[in-house]
Amino acid sequence: MNFTGAHILSISQFQRSDVEYLFTVANQMEPYALRKRVTRVLEGAILGNMFFEPSTRTRVSFGSAFNLLGGEVRETAGFESSALVKGESLQDTARVLSGFSDVICMRHPQAGSVADFASASRVPVMNGGDGANEHPTQALLDLYTIARELKGKGRGIDGLRIAMIGDLRHGRTVHSLSKLLCLYSNIQVILISPRELALPEDIVEQMRAAGLAVTVSEELNSSIANVDIVYSTRIQEERFTTKEEADLYRGKFRLNQAIYTQYCEPNTVIMHPLPRDSRSDANELDSDLDSNPNLAIFRQTDNGLLIRMALFALVLDVVGKVDQYSHDVRWYNSRQN
Ligand code: CP
Repeated sequence: MNFTGAHILSISQFQRSDVEYLFTVANQMEPYALRKRVTRVLEGAILGNMFFEPSTRTRVSFGSAFNLLGGEVRETAGFESSALVKGESLQDTARVLSGFSDVICMRHPQAGSVADFASASRVPVMNGGDGANEHPTQALLDLYTIARELKGKGRGIDGLRIAMIGDLRHGRTVHSLSKLLCLYSNIQVILISPRELALPEDIVEQMRAAGLAVTVSEELNSSIANVDIVYSTRIQEERFTTKEEADLYRGKFRLNQAIYTQYCEPNTVIMHPLPRDSRSDANELDSDLDSNPNLAIFRQTDNGLLIRMALFALVLDVVGKVDQYSHDVRWYNSRQN
């Protein structure tokens, strides 16, 4: 794929070579993400960060990634602070905002909405999550995390064994990650969910057609015994018609240290796209795992910065100039101590 000027809307756009190139560029971003160097390569560029659903990680890490490359961020958060509430179409909003921005990131509750917006945009658009459809940059940072975690064990992504747990029907991060795994060989996937929240059949079919060994389970403990990664997810309450309907499934699959110790292979890596639901009736990933060195959830969020910096550098075609426009850090860097 040619990254320059491209919209990043779906994992379907990516070939394996694109993912590998992206990961190489992400590695190059580490000195800047860790504040060992400062680059101003995107000085003068503006990111339009448009979030029409709640977000902490995706919104702030897109913004921080752009700032760390020297660009500026203009943010719209929530329908009520945009002219969409006055009846303006997404396409008109795109026509306007692409005059103000060099790249736009967007999250929206409707599947397909970010692609609709992108069709009228004069600048590249990145999908920060469109309803229950896709969250491509999350999947890329998840796979980058998997690659880094397995590299420490002398392994690559090929041959991966992964259990995906929770609301697989509505979880867009799982949808995108499942599609991304189709680019790799000898992958075993265990899908653990209530039957009503199973991964959409078209995605399961896509994985099987790509040669992945997919099994389905409604039971947690016995299904996490032989995997490299447990990828837990939250019940996506916002996608249910009522809270009561979501309550039927909340708390069904809880991983804690005792279950991990009893059922998982030693050093199984624990991931979650976050936010985890830490309320007592949910608690799919217990805080007693926080001191477990195999809990990778905050390495995932740190890696998100690298992946999003790399995507901006590629889409705005500055990969070869990042170091040229860099200088030393002048302030105290607590990360180095
Ligand atoms: N993983 C993720 O999309 O988190 P936010 O909802 O906080 O952006």
